[in-house]
Order: sequence, then C-alpha cells, then structure tokens
Amino acid sequence: MNIRDSEYPYCSLDSGALKPEAAFFVVFGATGDLAKRKIFPSLFDLHMEKTLPQRLVMLGFARRDLDDGAFRADMREGCARHSRHKGFSDADWASFSSRIFYLASDVSDPAGYARLASLIGGGEKLAGLGQDFSLPRNALFYLAVGPEHFGLIADRLGEAGLGSGRRGAGTRRGQKPREGWRRLVVEKPYGRDEASAGALTEVLQRNFSERDIYRIDHYLGKETVQNLLYLRFANAIFEPIWNRNHIESMDISVFETEGIGQRGGYYDTAGAARDMLQNHLVQLMCLATMEPPASLDPESIRNEKVKVLQSVATHDGPELLRRSRRGQYAEGTDGQGNPVEAYAEAPKVRTGSATETYVSLTLELDNWRFSGVPITLRTGKAFAEKFSQIVVNFRRPPAALFAAQCGESLLPNRLVIRIQPDEGVWLRFNAKVPGMPAIKASDLRFSFRDVAEYLPEAYERLIADALSGDSTLFIRADESKFAWRIVDSLEAAWSSADPSARPDQGGLLRYAAGSPIPSLQSHE
Ligand code: BG6
Repeated sequence: MNIRDSEYPYCSLDSGALKPEAAFFVVFGATGDLAKRKIFPSLFDLHMEKTLPQRLVMLGFARRDLDDGAFRADMREGCARHSRHKGFSDADWASFSSRIFYLASDVSDPAGYARLASLIGGGEKLAGLGQDFSLPRNALFYLAVGPEHFGLIADRLGEAGLGSGRRGAGTRRGQKPREGWRRLVVEKPYGRDEASAGALTEVLQRNFSERDIYRIDHYLGKETVQNLLYLRFANAIFEPIWNRNHIESMDISVFETEGIGQRGGYYDTAGAARDMLQNHLVQLMCLATMEPPASLDPESIRNEKVKVLQSVATHDGPELLRRSRRGQYAEGTDGQGNPVEAYAEAPKVRTGSATETYVSLTLELDNWRFSGVPITLRTGKAFAEKFSQIVVNFRRPPAALFAAQCGESLLPNRLVIRIQPDEGVWLRFNAKVPGMPAIKASDLRFSFRDVAEYLPEAYERLIADALSGDSTLFIRADESKFAWRIVDSLEAAWSSADPSARPDQGGLLRYAAGSPIPSLQSHE
C-alpha cells in the first residue's frame, strides 16, 4: 500500500511547492567517487522523476583530460550502478546526458574559471544544445573535492566574479551586474576542529553570502531523519511527555559493519568523533531535542538547533573521559565469516595509530526541557550489525500496582526511531499476557516500507533542495562551530590521556572486527 492511498487524507506542505530551478550545476571533482556514486545518479533519478528542469546544464570540472563523450560514458556507468532507476533505456539516458558537459582544468588555474564565467555569463555556447536552448543564468557550484581545495575553489570563483558574497558579486568595474543566483554546496569534512572550520567559513563567506552556502550533512537528507520533526510536532501525544519529567535517557547510535576500507588516509586524521559524531550524531540529537521552531522556514529551524548546541553542558577533562569511551577494531571477521584486517593494518593508517573507530559520549543539555537527562551518542565501524537509530527511554511507571511486583522485569516504555535499515518507529508498551495474570512488553511497529514503494536517496533530496534555494537541511556556519566545540573538548581530553589507561580514563578499547554492539551498561 502507498501512504498516499490510505484511508486518511494527506496534507501537502507549502515547502513542497519549491521547485529546482534552471541552472548550471557545476561539479568540481567530477571524476571522483562521489560524483559517480552519488551526485550524478541522484541527478539522474531526479530527471527520471521529472523533477529536474529541462534547462539544467550539468558541467563536470576536473583535471583529467576527457571530452564530453568520455565523461558522459563514465557517468552512465555510475548511474547504471548506483541510480535507483535500473535498466533505463538509451532514450532515457540520451534525454539526460545531452545536458552533461565537461571542462578539463586544474582547480587552481584561473583560466578554467574564466571559461566557466564565460559559459555562465552566456558568452560561450555549448555544442549540441541547439540554437534555441537558452542557457540558464543561475549557477550552483558543488565541491566534491578534497577539503584542502574548498577554500581555493571558493576564492577562484570569487575572483572570477562567480561568487555571491562581497567579492564574488560580479559588480566590479568592467563587469555587468550579475543576473541569477550563485550557490556553493560544500561536502564534509568541514574542518577538523572549531578553528579550521572557522577559517574555512571565513574564506567561503568572503566569496559567497552565508545564505548561498549549503553545507552537506547527508543524514539530514534521509527521509527518516526529516520525519523526526514530523513525528514530534505533527502529533499531540509526544510533545507533552518529551521532557525530563518523562524521559529517563536518550541513546543515539549509528553502527556500521564495514571497516574503513581504502579511506585510511582521511580516516586516520579524523576518527569516529570527527567523522560521524560531530555531524550526523549531533544533528540527530538536535532534531530529537530542539524546541518547536516558530515556523518551518530554514532559519527558524536552524536557530532552534543552535540553541540545543549552546546548551550542551561543558565538563573538565577527567569528567569527559568518564563520560566517553573510545575503541579501535582489531582483526576479526565480517558477517559472512570472512577475515577483516585490523584497523591498524589498513592502508595509509599510521603505525601505532590511536585513532578511534568507536566512540561513545554521554552529554547533557543545560536547559529546562532536558536538564539531567543523559543523551548518549555512539558510533562505530566494523561491528556485527549496521543500524542508525534514536532510542527514547521513558521513565518507569510508579511503584503502584504492577511495578511494585515486577520490578526490573516491567520494562519501561521506549520509542525507537529507526533511521535505517527497517526505517520506521517502534513503541514498546506493556500488555497482559492472555490467559495468565502476567505482563509482557510488545512493540507497536510502523514501517515506512509498508507505506511507500521507495524511500528517496538522501542526495536526491539535498540536490533538489539546493537547486530550489531551500537550506533547511543544510548546516549553518554557527551549527558547525558549536558542534566542533563538543568534539574539540573530547579530543583535548583524549590527547592528554594514555591510550593504555582504563577505558573510563581515556584508554583505547580494542574490539575484534565483527563484535556485537557494546551494551551501554558495559560502560559502567
Ligand atoms: C559518512 C562517513 O559521512 O557517513 C562514513 O564519512 C560513514 O565514514 C557514512 O560510513 C555513513 O553513512 P550512511 O548513510 O551509510 O549511514
């Protein structure tokens, strides 16, 4: 069954009226993995869903010496493998790919940007688009490159009059005032601490206004993550109990079965706290704990998230070590029994590296709603299971009647918001065991897969939103700053701890790849 056909009417929100606009969609790092695995397949899916405007011109920008044909062939392969529209026809592909072009240039070479400016400014035609194809005036620049290039590209765009900020507005002497919008989409990692993220923000804002900077956290593009606000604020039954009077604790987890694969070079300088906690887990916490925003506009929602981040309680080093755990996977096996090499043996990992592949951190929010409620953020690689979820543990009922007799075996209510897989919401409640004077917990389960044929890919949503000018699902500069503060203080505590110390004093736990998820109690 499709949710739209159910007995209840559905209500379409205003923001649904936002439409991707005609634009140059310029992908820096177009020959890289992200372009082939996510960006072009998502664009193709949007095209197949008829969500893309006809006048969207996609332009790959990278160093490799390719022509349009070779680049299109490469993207076709990526789309065939990674798009959700499998088995598409030549005609489908032709209608999409005729608007894909390639510009070979080094990211540091001003000549490449001059060419870009002339294309976007309408000074140069693109072969094959037809005489009557009117080129769009808008441009979105997608930075699918290593973070070391973010600042340089933003500067070069600004210098070429392609930005939207103080420098890039295209109104310097000799240049015509700019027509159309300019947007910059930035991938992670966005800095490696507060200082580097701040420095990057400065460069980006020198060339683009903050409202034109779209920082990606792909978790926000997931349907189940967006559902958090719908679940909380479109229902009247959750909000009255969504506070410290009724909630005992919250656990936010993202576990993965895969190790770090070939990403050792990046990962070893990051670790689980920087790679996952600073962004995905902190964002989930914000959405699960924020106050209702004044409206659904991007700034109202992001303001509320920032307030959550500002209310995170700070602790000294020893207390942070007590509240956190770090671990690294050792040799083990995957789900199929195949051997998995230890993190320490993975390519490009430094000898003797103490980089964590597992992190757990218990935070508290110093605010009226959640003061005193422990919120644990945990993430790890190479575990036995893969899932992302938010568990809201409610308080036990008072000791009258059942609780007095059953004690611990009367399980408290629990709401599981399952992000992936088995996307859905489960509510645990107690009921009578038929035929016996006994109580047993059961789950009320709602599964998105039962009511929707497919869940769109996070990137589809994010790309469509960026083309529509909706920045709700993107990270604002101050969100990134405050999120880094949390991780910076943890990193500082770890750096003063001995990796061979006790786990609650900052020691590095070793777990075999394929280990079961550690229970929260095992931390105590
Ligand atoms: C990325 C991290 O941001 O998220 C990866 O860099 C991680 O290390 C990935 O594997 C997880 O995303 P998802 O959508 O598979 O849960």
